[in-house]
Amino acid sequence: MSFYITTPIYYVNAQPHLGHAYTTIACDVMARHMRQRGEDVFFLTGTDEHGEPVADAAHALGLEPKELADRNAERFKALMPRLSASNDFFIRTSDAEHEAKVQEILQRVYNNGHVYKGLYEGWYCPKCADFKVENEIAEGNRCPIHEIPLERQQEENWFFRLSTFQEPLERLYAERPDFVMPSHHFNEARSFISQGLQDVSLSRAHLKWGVQVPWDPSHVFYVWFDALLNYYTALTYARPGEDLVPRFWPATYHVIGKDILKFHTVYWPAMLMAAGLPVPEHVFVHGFLLGADGRKMSKSLGNVLDPFEVMEALGTDALRFYLMRDVPFGGDGAVGMQAVRSRYDTELANEYGNLASRTIAMIRRYRDGVIPTAGTDPELTAEFDGLAGEVARLLDRAEPTQALEAIWLRVRRLNRYVEERAPWQLAKDPSQSNALDQTLASLAEGVRVISITLHPYIPASVEKLLAAIGAPELDYAGAGFAEHGSGASVDALEPLFPKPV
Ligand code: ME8
Ligand code: MG
Repeated sequence: MSFYITTPIYYVNAQPHLGHAYTTIACDVMARHMRQRGEDVFFLTGTDEHGEPVADAAHALGLEPKELADRNAERFKALMPRLSASNDFFIRTSDAEHEAKVQEILQRVYNNGHVYKGLYEGWYCPKCADFKVENEIAEGNRCPIHEIPLERQQEENWFFRLSTFQEPLERLYAERPDFVMPSHHFNEARSFISQGLQDVSLSRAHLKWGVQVPWDPSHVFYVWFDALLNYYTALTYARPGEDLVPRFWPATYHVIGKDILKFHTVYWPAMLMAAGLPVPEHVFVHGFLLGADGRKMSKSLGNVLDPFEVMEALGTDALRFYLMRDVPFGGDGAVGMQAVRSRYDTELANEYGNLASRTIAMIRRYRDGVIPTAGTDPELTAEFDGLAGEVARLLDRAEPTQALEAIWLRVRRLNRYVEERAPWQLAKDPSQSNALDQTLASLAEGVRVISITLHPYIPASVEKLLAAIGAPELDYAGAGFAEHGSGASVDALEPLFPKPV
């Protein structure tokens, strides 16, 4: 089965921040998990470089837009390995291949009769690069996202006949209740459509920084249409000489924040229909990360959580774990450094890290570092043998927080098991030798199964641990609870989550 997952492409007018890291990590968890299951995976991320916000930011710095784009695209590109993101390609919308493909597809939309020239007047947010319709205008004619005053703007430009896609979109939503997930965002998108769709402007006349409209070179395409098409164009040139479209289109999951819901759940499927292309399987909409005070993160409020600071203090895995664990994926949630530290200490270090080091230490002390060849404890079988399947079912529905909770219940279960069986007592009594063998084999096996399912979340730590217990295999086929590690030698392991200095 093919699995194609995308992040939004990020604007290069700003530096990478926690929100960008968040969506990227969530997609990476799903991509890594699907690879473990042997699926044919393609994971795409990249940068959105055209349009007014980027041109304005560049000019404010005395730069050409392309100079700013080059500079900041490098920062986003460098962010990916820093986050341990396993993206298969990084698209930049200033790539010549992307631009040519955008022109080709939108020319097709034009040829299909979905474009006309008209006069647009409306309330415009320069930061969103978007004209706002009535129900999107906040108190005092402000942008509900950026909270800045909207500008009255008028211009002649090319329009996309979005209104004629009202019925096809209604049908799409009627037939595919999981087109947008979670369901409250499905309902939001559906009600936006049912309120009636207006045509949208497809081009900009006053802007140079964009993809030229092939039938009218005095215009560039409105940045959102150029940007949305990245999900498709990337497949045409990510692997030189190979067209990945037949293999990966339509996308399995577009993962986005709720700020860009309308573009992905209304404009994008309509645009694809207009071009005669299949629409994606799912758009998953997650919530907003908020400052620890529950307010929108902003430098002026001093409530920003800096992903680089977290990674420097506690490591990349700590950031990944925290973001997937602390904010239920799909909803909004407050985040802060204190909460990061608390999850790190109580869960990563004391629960998982400690379980790993105790298990290894006891096998070394009592069994010369060899995992005993003894049956695993049947008492644990039901809880551990089904774990991989449970995690897979949850991640199929893009529920990384729930899947992590399922894993964590087993981490806690194994810690209780250590206390219940008290191997240090069994070790004192030679008649309990078989019981000790079984206990240690069960612990090693439980740790192994947990770690395989946990790998997508904290890959570097899990790889160290699995190497130390002589079971480096990550494949899901080996995630059943059944003595895989027996007979292997274990190595000493440095603390996976040391006390921060
Ligand atoms: O919108 N909480 O780019 P962008 C959670 N270029 N996620 C957040 C977040 C927060 N506080 N802040 C940002 C754009 N994000 C367009 C997209 S796609 C064809 C074009 C994440 O740099 C979230 O995924 O403003 C959000 O949708 C995205 O960053 C917006 O990134
Ligand atoms: Mg934004």
